[in-house]
Amino acid sequence: MEIYAVVMAAGEGTRMKSKHSKVVQMVAGKPIVKWVADALAEAHCEEQVYIVGDKQDEIRKILGESVAYVFQEQRLGTGHAVMQATPFLEGRSGYTIVLPGDSPMITADTINSSLKMIEDNDYAAVIITSVAEDPTGYGRIVRDSEGNVLKIVEHRDANEEELKIKEVNSSMYIFKTPLLISALGRLGSQNAQKEYYLTDTIGILIEDGLSVGANTVSFDDTRGVNDRYQLMQAAKILNRRILHKHMNNGVQIMDEDTTWITEDVTIGRDTLILPGCTILGNTKIGEDCIIGENTRIDNSVIGNNTEIDNSVVTDSDIGEECRIGPFTHIRPQTVIRDHVTLGAYVEVKGSTIDEYTRARHLTYIGDSTIGKNVNFGCGTVTCNYDGQEEKIGCVIEDNVFIGGNSNILSSVVVGKDSYVAAGSTITSDVPPLSLGIGRARQINKEDWVATRNRLRGAKFIELDRKRYEV
Ligand code: UD1
Ligand code: CA
Repeated sequence: MEIYAVVMAAGEGTRMKSKHSKVVQMVAGKPIVKWVADALAEAHCEEQVYIVGDKQDEIRKILGESVAYVFQEQRLGTGHAVMQATPFLEGRSGYTIVLPGDSPMITADTINSSLKMIEDNDYAAVIITSVAEDPTGYGRIVRDSEGNVLKIVEHRDANEEELKIKEVNSSMYIFKTPLLISALGRLGSQNAQKEYYLTDTIGILIEDGLSVGANTVSFDDTRGVNDRYQLMQAAKILNRRILHKHMNNGVQIMDEDTTWITEDVTIGRDTLILPGCTILGNTKIGEDCIIGENTRIDNSVIGNNTEIDNSVVTDSDIGEECRIGPFTHIRPQTVIRDHVTLGAYVEVKGSTIDEYTRARHLTYIGDSTIGKNVNFGCGTVTCNYDGQEEKIGCVIEDNVFIGGNSNILSSVVVGKDSYVAAGSTITSDVPPLSLGIGRARQINKEDWVATRNRLRGAKFIELDRKRYEV
């Protein structure tokens, strides 16, 4: 079956009040028009032409050269928009799908069921319709007493009876291609908006003695996006579809209102996602993990049985059975192997951390290579930046113990099984099995308090007490 798609995307989208084209706005992690293109591709409709306007460069950047584009110089209505595609349609048999570029809710299921309907019934066209609670502004589907579709009437051209109709046109259609071309050739613009209405092709085909079907789907599946509020509504619905897919696969999501997961993420069975998480990009989370609350994971791999609490992970790879967080920042190009613990206020960037290593509090590890079973005392800093361009970390080998509040300078190697004394600044290599101490030796001045008359005694300072009255 020959199927071609025409997507109308030349509109200005003024109500979005954006510097950018309406159809390139992001919704649930993907530009609006890409949702449309992907639904078409999923329904095996690879040949697509986009009717574009002044902001065409932004659309071309997203969809690339695998689809065709036609520039609509003057926007004289939806009928006029589709007329621009006739050079692509002439001489073709089969079907043409027409969609608005601003309807990210369209699914391959809707496209497929409409194709089946037009084929099974040998219709000239199928309109995708829905029942709107408030049909204001939409074109209405006018049917005869037997329920056959007669025409579409635009809100502004409708009479009082027609305005009562709640079945509305989604602006999505499938036509037999030669009949679409024939009807487009006969469109006029004698209507309230002086536009060439695509909707009038339906009445024209019916007057030709042909019949047209209506595939009624849920209103949510046809929603268009015109302003920022509708963009938010569409995002919520698209996000919910993704969350439900994960729940059907055995992922426990505690709160669908505050969890955001984008399309390409995969999550293993029995993983629990707590409220407030955002999981993005090409992220793969294993089984039996606990993620959240309030965790953002972007483009990262998380192994089975790992827990991440109130943390941010970007472009990194975390192994199995790890404990991350709370308030931990895993920055790009970090590899964390299995059984690693990184606790509160630990930041890691561009480093590899081997198995069973622990940094439980307040540590920065940058551009470094850390061995197995290393223990970082609280407040360890790898000094990886020379203040110029170069960022070079250190190497800390297996089983090293680093005392609290230590600095390990660039390029230093702390050898296997060694110790670093608390409060050290380590500027040169520490050989294996030794203790590195890099700090001033302590001196005690005996009787200093008495000779300097500095006895503090029992001076307790009163706390400021404030009573809050609500
Ligand atoms: C259209 C339908 C209406 C339907 C509604 C659903 C017509 C005449 N009416 O009305 O029956 O209920 O959609 O949302 O078709 N576009 C172009 N070039 C143009 C004009 C429009 O590319 O010259 C594009 C727009 O960017 C948009 C789509 O076509 O993506 C729909 O156009 P719009 O003006 O929003 O149509 P509505 O008045 O909403
Ligand atoms: Ca519209």
